Amino acid sequence: MESSVSDFIYLACIVLFIVGLKKLSHPDTARNGNLVAATGMGIAILVAIFYPMEGATNNYTWIAGGLVLGSAGGYIAAKKVQMTAMPEMVSLFNGLGGACAMLISIVEFYNYPAQQDLLNGQAITTLFALFVGSITFTGSLIAFGKLQGFLRDSLVLPFPTVVNMVLLLVIVGSGVYITLLPQLNFNFIIILLILSLVYGVTFVTPIGGGDMPVVISLLNSFSGIGATLAGLIYNNQVMVVGGIIVGASGTILTILMCKAMNRSLFNVIIGGFGGGGSSAVDSGEQVVKEATYADLAIQLKYSQKVIIVPGYGLAVAQAQHACHELEELMEKEGVTVKYAIHPVAGRMPGHMNVLLAEADVPYPKLLDLEDANKEFPSTDVILVIGANDVVNPAANDDPGSPIYGMPILEVELAKNVIVLKRSMSAGYAGIENQLFFGEKTRMLFGDAKKSLNKLIEETSAA
Ligand code: TAP
Repeated sequence: MESSVSDFIYLACIVLFIVGLKKLSHPDTARNGNLVAATGMGIAILVAIFYPMEGATNNYTWIAGGLVLGSAGGYIAAKKVQMTAMPEMVSLFNGLGGACAMLISIVEFYNYPAQQDLLNGQAITTLFALFVGSITFTGSLIAFGKLQGFLRDSLVLPFPTVVNMVLLLVIVGSGVYITLLPQLNFNFIIILLILSLVYGVTFVTPIGGGDMPVVISLLNSFSGIGATLAGLIYNNQVMVVGGIIVGASGTILTILMCKAMNRSLFNVIIGGFGGGGSSAVDSGEQVVKEATYADLAIQLKYSQKVIIVPGYGLAVAQAQHACHELEELMEKEGVTVKYAIHPVAGRMPGHMNVLLAEADVPYPKLLDLEDANKEFPSTDVILVIGANDVVNPAANDDPGSPIYGMPILEVELAKNVIVLKRSMSAGYAGIENQLFFGEKTRMLFGDAKKSLNKLIEETSAA
């Protein structure tokens, strides 16, 4: 009886997850969608506590301790994290999801009946959870280190592809061997655990440069798969469905990201793409042209069409509101203003969409990569605000570049390009950008928010 009540409530929670996810697909409903899904998760946690799974009774002190610690950590992280540090937080949370699946598997094997072999669904699922959870854990920690900047892309392991392939084969072989043993040998489980943890490191370490988004969304889907496997171990439907939702959406996002970066999923899975290439363009004696605020204000006012290309620097400068203000000012003057959004602009999927939505930029003004490239030839001025890699022509022209083959916003097709950034520093991929020396390009050096505020003043006065 108890179980059918809890199953029914779990089903309601699953519906809340799906409704929440649907609402997340549009900026107007996204905040509410997040609340709906979080409510579902809150109820699922309460049900799991009040209708405990078999063998989980008498653990309320541990559960309460975990709840208090986890909730406090989550609350503080959510309150304190800067928008620009969101990808790092996502990476850490993916890692924690993986660690959960890993720990659950270790405990299950620790309590596994002696003398029994592992040739059954439950044990094989637990082995998978151990593997997926472990690589998600260490892989996410490496990704976090790279995003945070304390692990450099120059840290390259020798022959990463070969090492990864061999390690993967050894792990699969050991898994099969452990399963076929007449009874569980816990030492082998520990060996498999160590191999999987090492694989997480060797898998993510060679990936770098502009390729990190793909690996982050892949690790996100792994954390979902880990949760699904853990749900199967405990026969908990809400965990299974929640994990499947994360795993499936992470996989879809990975495929979209691969497309955006022009990479194959196979290369991501065996690791070792991108990052290592060297194509730093020697700027030599080249000089850049600088724009002045007064000239630019007049040029903007007399343009017919202006397209704004936001990038990571817009997030760093928190310039989204100033950007929207300038857009409204130009529109009052009869200028058509749109935004061109590259799928990996910023540091996490949808980063620019979230920032612009926060500043109330109307969603229909946002162009995706293909549509933006079609509109550029008829555009008078492109304002590149804190973007670099996503407008780097080396992706089209330089086969030696680590970003070669990545689709970019081809801003050089427009009549004029103005780049707002603080210096000539490289972007995330660490390579120079010939766009800055281009015939049609002028640079407006300074913090994006300060530059935009000055530009707003000049445009209002012009
Ligand atoms: P980036 O190539 O990283 O360039 C950002 C530029 O913003 C920098 O060149 C920097 O130049 C400038 N900047 C920084 N702070 C600024 C400020 N306060 N005011 C004005 N400018 C500022 O950015 P992007 O073009 O958006 O490309 C994103 C990169 O990150 C890609 O390589 C992508 O693959 C990678 N990545 C993306 C994701 C996702 S999922 N989106 C995740 C991880 C990595 P200055 O220092 O000279 O100002």
